[in-house]
Amino acid sequence: MLKGKHIILGITGGIAAYKSVYLLRLLIKAGAEVQVIITPSGKEFITPVTLSALSGKPVVSEFFSANTGEWHSHVDLGLWADAMVIAPATASSIAKMAHGVADNMLITTYLSAKAPVFIAPAMDLDMFAHPTTQNNIELLKSYGNHIIEPTSGELASHLVGKGRMAEPESIVEKLTAFFATGKDLQGKKMLITAGPTYEKIDPVRFIGNYSSGKMGYALAEEAARRGAQVTLVSGPVAIKAKHPAIKVIDVESAKQMYDKCVNIFPDVDIAIMCAAVADYAPEKQSDVKIKREKDDIPVIKLVKNPDIAASLGKMKTEGQILVGFALETNNEETNAQDKMQRKNLDAIVLNSLNDSGAGFGTDTNKVTIFFADGNKKMYDMKSKAEVAKDIIDAII
Ligand code: CTP
Repeated sequence: MLKGKHIILGITGGIAAYKSVYLLRLLIKAGAEVQVIITPSGKEFITPVTLSALSGKPVVSEFFSANTGEWHSHVDLGLWADAMVIAPATASSIAKMAHGVADNMLITTYLSAKAPVFIAPAMDLDMFAHPTTQNNIELLKSYGNHIIEPTSGELASHLVGKGRMAEPESIVEKLTAFFATGKDLQGKKMLITAGPTYEKIDPVRFIGNYSSGKMGYALAEEAARRGAQVTLVSGPVAIKAKHPAIKVIDVESAKQMYDKCVNIFPDVDIAIMCAAVADYAPEKQSDVKIKREKDDIPVIKLVKNPDIAASLGKMKTEGQILVGFALETNNEETNAQDKMQRKNLDAIVLNSLNDSGAGFGTDTNKVTIFFADGNKKMYDMKSKAEVAKDIIDAII
């Protein structure tokens, strides 16, 4: 699976850097082409000579070559890579990645990379458990990076706890599994909706919901990785799509999302309606800020928004696949099945708000997929990236 793959191995300054030599050997043995980038403090732990001998390429560390003045292009490296692995990733490098502190070649390359990024943290147990590190890791996850969790055991400090870098074999396994998924959506066009919609009341207020867009974005990344050309119609979210095959169209209201979707749908093979579309919008939008009334409480009259999924269900032609989502709190199965029929969907993905860790804002989800032919598939609680893989597998 790794044969011919272009992999950037980023090494930062931690004791576990010695394990990266073995990781490099395993990657080369598996047939990958590896470019090592090491931070200045990484070189305190392991020498570039060892790494260039094993990788067969000069190791990059500085922005310029000290001998020739040649500029090392982080942009070119970022585009060259099929994957980037940062192992070990110290607390400091994790913080720099999370906040864009681009003060060395590795972080600038990370910021330029279009490829998926795998991060294997390694540090002392208290540093790893510190809320600062945990928040930075959560931030990196929310940007679509893959975190390869450290394991528990004896650390360099002789303390025992979680913070040991994952073993090189297990990092290679993760990468192999990632590339194992074939390009089974090559040539397919997909439409995915994601995030909430905002229904404007006046210039400063709206009706919205807590959707983070994470599930829809994870689906877009997975589909693009498997070869699809994805148009992602997205409500207002704080995350960004990474894969170059994803075209993002930003919208705010349900009406705007509807207009884009009905235009795009005739040209796609598969559509997944993942957005949490507001069912109602204020009948009137005030051009000026509504002032606090002295006595009266303002009444906002709502009108129905168009049902995007149902409209596409009516437009659907032979060979097109339309998949919806249902987020339910009660009578989950009946409600989901009913929605699938009403909207003429081919499948519906149910997540129940009764499962903690499922639904809005979380990084995990637990879903059941119902198919129009009466079949159903239940899945365990998983990361949204893994759920996206299950959903795409089910569609295929
Ligand atoms: N959906 C849509 N347009 C809407 C409302 C919902 O495209 N105006 C889509 C969602 O993206 C999802 C599916 O329809 O794929 C079900 O959404 P949900 O909000 O659960 O269903 P509703 O039809 O709004 O029903 P209810 O709010 O009564 O549960």
